[in-house]
Formats: sequence, structure tokens, C-alpha cells
Amino acid sequence: MSDLNALFEAARSVREKAYAPYSKFLVGAAFRTPDGSVFTGCNVENASYPVSVCAEGGAVSAMIAAGYREIEEAVVVGDAALCTPCGICRQRFAEFGADNLVVHIADLNGIKRSFTLEELLPAAFELEDRKD
Ligand code: THU
Repeated sequence: MSDLNALFEAARSVREKAYAPYSKFLVGAAFRTPDGSVFTGCNVENASYPVSVCAEGGAVSAMIAAGYREIEEAVVVGDAALCTPCGICRQRFAEFGADNLVVHIADLNGIKRSFTLEELLPAAFELEDRKD
């Protein structure tokens, strides 16, 4: 199995664990770091909707807790025409994405589209850019 196929399978598998009783829309995300480590997350909703966490947010937390800081490749799986990340998750990718990050968007059958960080969030806000 190729690295990308393994990442897709990891995202598809963790999607089944999602807790999404309100939207009923299950999402899984899998990230690969430059050394080949893989971290996954699924969406976890809450009766207080803003408390909900996207699949990408869960995968970021797992990656940071394991001591990693850089995503080189990501797969997001949702059962939609195109399950593109929300604005907050685009900013998450801007924070932790490697320069060569590619985010693949998939449905249950496979990858539909692939995006660079520049395509997802042009002119991203970065704290390093501050004037001080
Ligand atoms: N969702 C994600 O977890 N990731 C995405 O990329 C798009 C949407 C979740 C948020 C919410 O729990 C549900 O999907 C419906 O929007």
C-alpha cells in the first residue's frame, strides 16, 4: 500500500469513530509528519455547538501531544461531494503545515481533490509576520 493510500485508510477508519449526533456528518482526518508518523482525529460534536471539534482539530491535538509540530500530508474524509476544511481548520493547517503541505479531500471511495496551503488559505495570518 502506498503512503498516501495508507493515510486515506487511516482517515476513513477513524471517521467511523466520529461523534456527530447533531449533524450526522462523520469526518476523519489523518496527518503524516516529515518522519512518517501518522496522527488521526475525528469530529466530536457537543450539545453546545461551538464546543464541537473538527476532525482536523482532533488530529492536530494528537500530533502536538505526541511532540510533533509539522504536517507534510493530510487526508480528510467525509461523505460529501467535497469535504473541504472550515476556516478555522485552514488556519490550523497554516499554523502547522510544512511548506510543501498537501491536503487531500476524499469521500469514502477515495481522494477527490488535492490542495496546497496557498490554495486553502492565501495570505494566511502568521504571528511571525508581526511588526515589533
Ligand atoms: N467537519 C469536520 O470535522 N471537518 C471538515 O473538514 C468539515 C466539517 C465537521 C464539523 C461538524 O461536526 C460536521 O463536520 C458538520 O459540519
